[in-house]
Amino acid sequence: MINRYTVIGQPIAHSLSPVVHQLFGELTQRKIHYTRTEATPETFADTVIKWQQSGARGCNVTAPFKELAVDVCNRLSANARRAGSVNTIHMHCDGSRTGHNTDGVGLVADIQSNLRRPLESQRILLLGAGGAARGVMAPLLASKPALLHVANRTAAKSEHLASLFEDLGPVSGSGFEQLEELATFDIVINATTLSMHGDMPPLPEDIISHKSLAYDMTYSTRDTVFMLWSKSRGASASNGLGMLVEQAAESFLIWEGVRPKTRMVYPRLHELLS
Ligand code: ATR
Repeated sequence: MINRYTVIGQPIAHSLSPVVHQLFGELTQRKIHYTRTEATPETFADTVIKWQQSGARGCNVTAPFKELAVDVCNRLSANARRAGSVNTIHMHCDGSRTGHNTDGVGLVADIQSNLRRPLESQRILLLGAGGAARGVMAPLLASKPALLHVANRTAAKSEHLASLFEDLGPVSGSGFEQLEELATFDIVINATTLSMHGDMPPLPEDIISHKSLAYDMTYSTRDTVFMLWSKSRGASASNGLGMLVEQAAESFLIWEGVRPKTRMVYPRLHELLS
């Protein structure tokens, strides 16, 4: 029997998830078939239900439906509940659905395991306070940083986001202007949507040093403006391809009970993308 999965989003044509999951299937010798499905806010819930009724085992959910996906699930994992968003739905034989959020665990796995940068005792700056930022807060705090500071164009949103997670560790929030008053960060993660428009947030020069890691959650085949800016200051920089692969591996683990050895898929992905 072939287990069927899909990724639901809008737009969805360029999603790499089918390629990543097919590679995972080959690596783990699981028979899976993974497709892309386009939906609208109006058709999203129905699309999920019909997908399950067709006998499928699960789906991934991507922009702009991760918050909507919370309401189509009967149960939520702790990460999904905290994040207020779902990127992985596990469909059960009894007709029920469990919602998970693997984005934050994927980000932490990429930074710690692939990039070999420990997060413990580090000063982490998270840029942006939208859904993408919210989804990674709990796993970042679980890795015990010295500080997780959230900076956003709209300061009230980052302050609110920080207050929602303050029981999990040292977390604060501000606008971009207040960054002038803060010391250099070890790790700066860009969770704004600015890279998609070839732009970056207004950052003070010494927020980053040659010892810092700049991580852009956007995936792009070329360095983003934020990555180029960070590199010009001597920092190391990474895009979000590793996060995409690692969050997919966590989804695969939830559905298939085995976590693929992700390092095996990177050479194939780079080959396909070049
Ligand atoms: P996602 O789900 O991808 O996080 P989102 O919830 O719309 O998308 O959040 C977008 C993020 O990018 C927000 O932090 C947003 O800042 P605001 O909360 O102030 O809107 C940020 N962003 C988008 N356009 C921006 C811009 N031109 N300058 C600065 N930040 C921007």
